Amino acid sequence: MKFFVDTADTAEIRDLASSGLLDGVTTNPSLIAKAGGDFFDILKDICDAVDGPVSAEVTAVDAASMIAEGEKLAKLADNIAVKVPLTLDGLKACRHLSDQGTMVNVTLCFSAVQALMAGKAGATFISPFVGRLDDISQDGMKLIEDIRQIYNNYEEINTEILVASIRNPTHVLRSALLGADVCTIPPAVLRQLVQHPLTDRGLEAFLADWAKTGQSIT
Ligand code: E4P
Repeated sequence: MKFFVDTADTAEIRDLASSGLLDGVTTNPSLIAKAGGDFFDILKDICDAVDGPVSAEVTAVDAASMIAEGEKLAKLADNIAVKVPLTLDGLKACRHLSDQGTMVNVTLCFSAVQALMAGKAGATFISPFVGRLDDISQDGMKLIEDIRQIYNNYEEINTEILVASIRNPTHVLRSALLGADVCTIPPAVLRQLVQHPLTDRGLEAFLADWAKTGQSIT
């Protein structure tokens, strides 16, 4: 499974990229606003920091303008994935940009039939938002299960399932069990994935016992 980080904080991205565990980045207009600064400078900086896909979202709502914005964004770097909303205009733009060889991430997916449509439109990634479904008492992970099953039924669909709106490590665990292709994870949750209290306690005990030996490896 690929791990993307869901942030526009370039310092955080560079730090996580140094772990060698980061496969890409997703941004959205809210994350760009939170980071502050020039949209294009932030994106170029992120694209320099990671080798994998960097999602950059259009802000137009009609297909022609989305295409124009997407073409401009795609020129920023080879690893830009243009992000378009899951609307009919978004899917028209997706088909056009995808046919030009640009990676497209179709975002704001909340139903399995929406994901089917994105697959038909040639999306590189479909982004189902599991946390926002959970927030309204629906089962976000059931959506991932349904999309996985549908995509498995049709070998002509090559769209990768990019689980978005992740709130906790359990979302990542369940995504992996269901065979999702990618999780885009907030930095704090990404760091949580390696933590376990028994790991901390065990390490503390090992180091204390090692100190008693008075030895050093180096
Ligand atoms: C995905 O690409 C989105 O940026 C993101 O996962 C949205 O998550 P949120 O529901 O925490 O805002």
